[in-house]
Amino acid sequence: MEIIVQSDAETAGKLAARMIRRQIETKPDSVLGLATGGTPLPLYRELIRMHKEEGLDFSRVTTFNLDEYIGLAPEHPRSYHAFMHETFFRHVNISADSIHIPDGLTRDVEALCADYESRILAAGGIDLQVLGIGTDGHIGFNEPGSSLASRTRIKTLTPQTLSDNARFFEEGEIQPHHVITMGIGTILDSRRILLLAFGANKAEAVAAAAEGPITASVPASALQLHPKAHLFLDEPAAEKLTRADYYRWVYDQKPGWQKNI
Ligand code: GLP
Repeated sequence: MEIIVQSDAETAGKLAARMIRRQIETKPDSVLGLATGGTPLPLYRELIRMHKEEGLDFSRVTTFNLDEYIGLAPEHPRSYHAFMHETFFRHVNISADSIHIPDGLTRDVEALCADYESRILAAGGIDLQVLGIGTDGHIGFNEPGSSLASRTRIKTLTPQTLSDNARFFEEGEIQPHHVITMGIGTILDSRRILLLAFGANKAEAVAAAAEGPITASVPASALQLHPKAHLFLDEPAAEKLTRADYYRWVYDQKPGWQKNI
């Protein structure tokens, strides 16, 4: 696991965007796994800037999102379909046919999940997966207790996740308790993983994920098994890491071309 601590979320997001740019420039038909939530916003802003100002080309890129709420139509403003369209897809030249997000209105969840896995395989697998982390250590919507070998399936959110995400819903709006999410096994099959975490409220989950035991109780700890996992943190999210100074030192030792990706 490579742990990169930056002063703030904007700087860390920009650095993560550079890694994605390198991925796309090396392989223009890359398959990207994408995440929702507040965390990837600086990353998406920077990718949009790279597209608009530097011509970063998404025309041959395929994407698979991690998750979606069951019961929300793609047009629903709180759906992850709508979130992705608003914050990223409509600003870049990605083809609509190349975007994949689970359908929250499916009548057959099991068939949809199997189909989602098949589509990932048919696309050649995910080259680079972007992740955030829940305050309870979840990745995607794999809540604590999720099998580390799990595939795309239905999950029930924890009360903590519901309360963390209540800020995205307006008062009186129904907040779904069930979701479809890629599994931890699905995520681990990606060739490279970028996990972003910002803010002091993520510090405990980050420390448990990076330095604690590998356990289903902290789903993000499964990333310790991945050979190419990179954690992009701001200072507050890194504050509970016992080896933070070592990670900073490792990063400082890198040659400039590697640091600037
Ligand atoms: C959400 C998403 C995750 C995300 C996490 C953190 O519920 N399903 O993919 O990483 O919770 O969200 P945020 O970035 O808003 O803190």
